[in-house]
Amino acid sequence: MKPIQVGLIGIGTVGGGVFEVLRRNQEEIKRRAGRGIEVTMVSRRDQAKARAMVGEDAKVVADPRDIIRNPDIDIVVELIGGYTLARELVLEAIAAGKHVVTANKALLAVHGTEIFQAAHNKGVMVAFEAAVAGGIPIIKALREGLTANQIQWVAGIINGTTNFILSEMRDKGLDFDVVLKEAQRLGYAEADPTFDIEGVDAAHKATIMSAIAFGIPVQFDKAYVEGITKLGAADIKYAEQLGYRIKLLGITKRTDKGVELRVHPSLVPAQRLIANVEGAMNAVMVQGDAVGTTLYYGKGAGAEPTASAVVADLVDITRLHTADPQNRVPHLAFQPDALSNLPVLPMEEVVTSYYLRLRVADQAGVLAKLTGLLADANISIDAILQREADQVSGANQTDVIILTHDTREGNMNVVLKQMQGLPTVLAPIVRIRKEELA
Ligand code: NDP
Ligand code: HSE
Repeated sequence: MKPIQVGLIGIGTVGGGVFEVLRRNQEEIKRRAGRGIEVTMVSRRDQAKARAMVGEDAKVVADPRDIIRNPDIDIVVELIGGYTLARELVLEAIAAGKHVVTANKALLAVHGTEIFQAAHNKGVMVAFEAAVAGGIPIIKALREGLTANQIQWVAGIINGTTNFILSEMRDKGLDFDVVLKEAQRLGYAEADPTFDIEGVDAAHKATIMSAIAFGIPVQFDKAYVEGITKLGAADIKYAEQLGYRIKLLGITKRTDKGVELRVHPSLVPAQRLIANVEGAMNAVMVQGDAVGTTLYYGKGAGAEPTASAVVADLVDITRLHTADPQNRVPHLAFQPDALSNLPVLPMEEVVTSYYLRLRVADQAGVLAKLTGLLADANISIDAILQREADQVSGANQTDVIILTHDTREGNMNVVLKQMQGLPTVLAPIVRIRKEELA
């Protein structure tokens, strides 16, 4: 059978990896897919670089629309990133009847509903395994492997850059800025690293997983997003002393009231496997009612790990190319007319436990006042740690660290405001959420 013809729009880190993996493993891939998969056209603005990458094996064009217009191209792979041009090109490719593969989590988290609807109407596939956790087949696991389950929650380290930064800060005691520069040098960070460090990239991925886990539309605008820029080395150290590690987690959870969708630094018990995921590695935990807890671990970024996921999508599409569209796996795991309107909960409604660090005057009654405020709000204390006092301007000060049991975020916000108003609380209170992931 004639090989499937693929056009790559964007041939940078990931595109280069896709070209290389397809070239190197072509025989094996053909035996799996049932026919050959060939990249016959590529596009990037710097055509000389593109030519250097593909040689005579593919046609290089400056205008990505030449790929979309070519009737011989079966699958368009979007690997330029960003929201605007990528959205236009993906929608144009769908309108031209092409199947689409993309690694662009930002695009899908924001414009996914429009894109999946357009693909459904046209009867083409949009595949996006690489968009979440790079080489880890988490989309396939959630959409197919766990399809018997009611998914209860998903929690993951889904941004390699921030996990690398947190690991280096903990292991080597290095400052945030130094480690960020190293992450950029190693190529983990997004073109705009604020997406990584402010939690936006992880929130894009969590949004996509939330939609697939619970059969709801993609709703990035409802996600709670907090990055790691305000984390201090002291908190990493205190967490360690209390038996926890701090990780940037993407969490989505089904509750009686709706769906939680949030990204923020979290204390995780040090004995959990996920707490020991170090460097730029990713890991995702999924809790299903039938299967229990499952864990997926691997490289979440990089040319070939990400290409592994893109090429898997190409093989899937090649296998299902001629299947009746009604019989394909739905984009968001649930049939498009069976999506649920479960609301995404505001952060105030989220129930979790907390780590609080307070810089206080070292005086009689201070601790009693703090614990009294928690008691009045019916917030139970899990552990307290008080550091030895140090002298500042002739007065004794100390750090008090309190771990709480579960409470509603709105309830905790009220208590934090009351605590912050006390004259004996001398600096902004640090609040980090705590997830037992049991
Ligand atoms: P790169 O910046 O390395 O590559 C982007 C490519 O797109 C370059 O070849 C660039 O070349 C080309 N490009 C940009 N604008 C245009 C345009 N207008 N027309 C044609 N080509 C264009 O990015 P990555 O490969 O790292 O990332 C690609 C996508 O994959 C992004 O959505 C990213 O978020 C996602 N991703 C990346 C991972 C990684 O590890 N890198 C992991 C998972 C997902 P030129 O400038 O010459 O045009
Ligand atoms: N910048 C992302 C990360 C790349 O650090 O994980 C993979 O999506």
